[in-house]
Amino acid sequence: MPSLSDRLLKIASFINKGERVADIGTDHAYLPIYLRQSGISPSVLACDIKSGPLSVAKKNVTLSGTDGVAFRLCDGLSGLSPDEADVFVIAGMGGELIANILARCEWAKGSGKRFILQPMNSPEYLREFLCKNGYTIADECAVRDADRVYTVISVLAKQDTAAHDERYFFVGRLDCAREDDLLFLKKQYLRLSSCADDLEKTENREQYLYYKRAADYISKYIGV
Ligand SMILES: C[S@@+](CC[C@H](N)C(=O)[O-])C[C@H]1O[C@@H](n2cnc3c(N)ncnc32)[C@H](O)[C@@H]1O
Repeated sequence: MPSLSDRLLKIASFINKGERVADIGTDHAYLPIYLRQSGISPSVLACDIKSGPLSVAKKNVTLSGTDGVAFRLCDGLSGLSPDEADVFVIAGMGGELIANILARCEWAKGSGKRFILQPMNSPEYLREFLCKNGYTIADECAVRDADRVYTVISVLAKQDTAAHDERYFFVGRLDCAREDDLLFLKKQYLRLSSCADDLEKTENREQYLYYKRAADYISKYIGV
């Protein structure tokens, strides 16, 4: 079994010892295997929408001699009930898909459950969805892994008591005093300003202005 990537290790670091985990979109089941073998989680539910990845997950769990991992073929959180895990991980998918999985779940909102989310893109879309749909971003941290940098967002399914404006969606709880957070924000700045440049001379004024505000705000926040 290959050693866990820094991205998955960072996700695992958000899980407290003794917490039962459901890994939504588990694919290879590296995270469930690590959580069981390190003794962090007493049980892990490895879920995927496709039977191919779930077969790979089962094979990897068996080959690694890991116990305490159950499997479920299901779409997002729809095949699960809230009492089956303490923490629900949704990682390695697009920000819009993660938001869509939460939006389609009947029990998630207001459940008080914890979700660890790791969007591969559009973090600003996901943060906006969370803030406008009854979730609180409890913590967020970026992690460098090989030649990429990712953000990991820890979320509580309860209404945030603080009011947030659009600027919060662009940066979340990243802290530019931390090296990996700063790198992530620099990359976001480049992506968002490039989107704004592409749209500047098009009819899509609203979208252009959104990307421009996002890039300008991040630029000011990180001081570039
Ligand atoms: C790129 S892999 C990420 C694997 C792992 N979570 C990680 O972060 O390394 C994405 C996985 O999510 C699964 N997936 C996509 N949409 C899903 C959904 N709606 N419900 C459950 N799994 C889904 C895919 O089948 C695939 O196995």
